[in-house]
Amino acid sequence: MISFPSFLLISTILFTKIPPFTSQSSRFLDSILQDHAFRAFPHHRPKTGVIYDGNAPSNLTGTSVSALRLRTGSLRKRGFKGYKEFDIPKGIIENPYVKRVILVYQNLGNWSSVYYPLPGFFYLSPVVGLLAYNAVNLTGQDLPELDLRAPEDPILIKFESLSVLGNGSSPVCVFFDLFGGVAFDHVINGSFCSILTQGHVGIVVENSPAPAPARVPEDPIAGGGGGGGGRRGKGWWVGGSVAGGVLMAALVVVLVLWVRWCRGTRRMEKMRDAAERGVPLTVAAVGRAEVPVAMATRTKPVLETEYVT
Ligand SMILES: *[C@@H]1O[C@H](CO)[C@@H](O)[C@H](O)[C@H]1NC(C)=O
Ligand SMILES: *[C@@H]1O[C@H](CO)[C@@H](O)[C@H](O)[C@H]1NC(C)=O
Ligand SMILES: *[C@@H]1O[C@H](CO)[C@@H](O)[C@H](O)[C@H]1NC(C)=O
Ligand SMILES: *[C@@H]1O[C@H](CO)[C@@H](O)[C@H](O)[C@H]1NC(C)=O
Ligand SMILES: *[C@@H]1O[C@H](CO)[C@@H](O)[C@H](O)[C@H]1NC(C)=O
Repeated sequence: MISFPSFLLISTILFTKIPPFTSQSSRFLDSILQDHAFRAFPHHRPKTGVIYDGNAPSNLTGTSVSALRLRTGSLRKRGFKGYKEFDIPKGIIENPYVKRVILVYQNLGNWSSVYYPLPGFFYLSPVVGLLAYNAVNLTGQDLPELDLRAPEDPILIKFESLSVLGNGSSPVCVFFDLFGGVAFDHVINGSFCSILTQGHVGIVVENSPAPAPARVPEDPIAGGGGGGGGRRGKGWWVGGSVAGGVLMAALVVVLVLWVRWCRGTRRMEKMRDAAERGVPLTVAAVGRAEVPVAMATRTKPVLETEYVT
């Protein structure tokens, strides 16, 4: 069981609000790529368990898409190793339940930073995506994604070649959920990332190490602040400015008090339940609510001390 404070910590590593246009244009891209990936299936009896590579849209040269059709039962029982960069473990759950699922793979190549811009970071890998659809309609467009989760083992993304590292910061995995949420995690074994739900993943490194800012424990407040009165105006950024630091410090105090209070109440149980049930909870929560909870933190230690897989 995960303790409440560590749950909070994990959940608030680093959430940044990417500008609204980004998630909109990337969602639009998802639907275009879904269409192109589906066209990769032969018209006559596409096989299950076979990876079909599609043609990228002509105005998106440099990207690639694939489609893979699987029986849900087999996916759950056996997983699927080696769907391009993705190693999908057994135990996968889709919601709503469908009999067959189509997993669309996207590799955004040199378009990664166009559709998933991350100010202050540089991509060492392409952004790759994994999205799940109902396989009932092979010609549908604008199909909704299924909700896909890996409750047992995480989905592993094995990047083969990373761009040469800068000498400064260490690389981190960045994960974009389908709702505009962004989360960072550490890199496993040099070039792997792990995720618990569908979305887009890449490895980034900070552009330029920030000049050591005042030591403000910024991150831990993000979730707590959001719990209270989150919606404070769109596009709210706190960029490590002095004002931001002071605000953050104040929020930390509020959070500490809040956490203590929670401990004595049933709310804690609820949070625990939530933590056990669905791990990507916070990402989704941030994204769906579009609450600009957290700030772009430049304090590297946060990245490094986080997350036990
Ligand atoms: C590519 O073409 C599609 C139409 O086929 C269009 O909807 C989309 O906006 C274009 N994308 C870019 C990046 O030009
Ligand atoms: C990516 O590379 C292709 C050529 O391989 C080029 O046509 C395209 O414009 C590039 N995209 C971007 C965003 O630079
Ligand atoms: C599949 O999708 C297309 C386009 O969205 C629609 O016209 C068609 O009726 C759908 N077929 C089924 C079986 O749902
Ligand atoms: C990286 O190394 C180069 C020399 O190889 C140096 O000029 C540069 O300042 C270093 N950058 C960082 C962030 O340490
Ligand atoms: C990372 O490397 C270690 C040692 O080589 C190995 O035991 C472990 O399974 C690897 N982890 C992943 C996620 O591949």
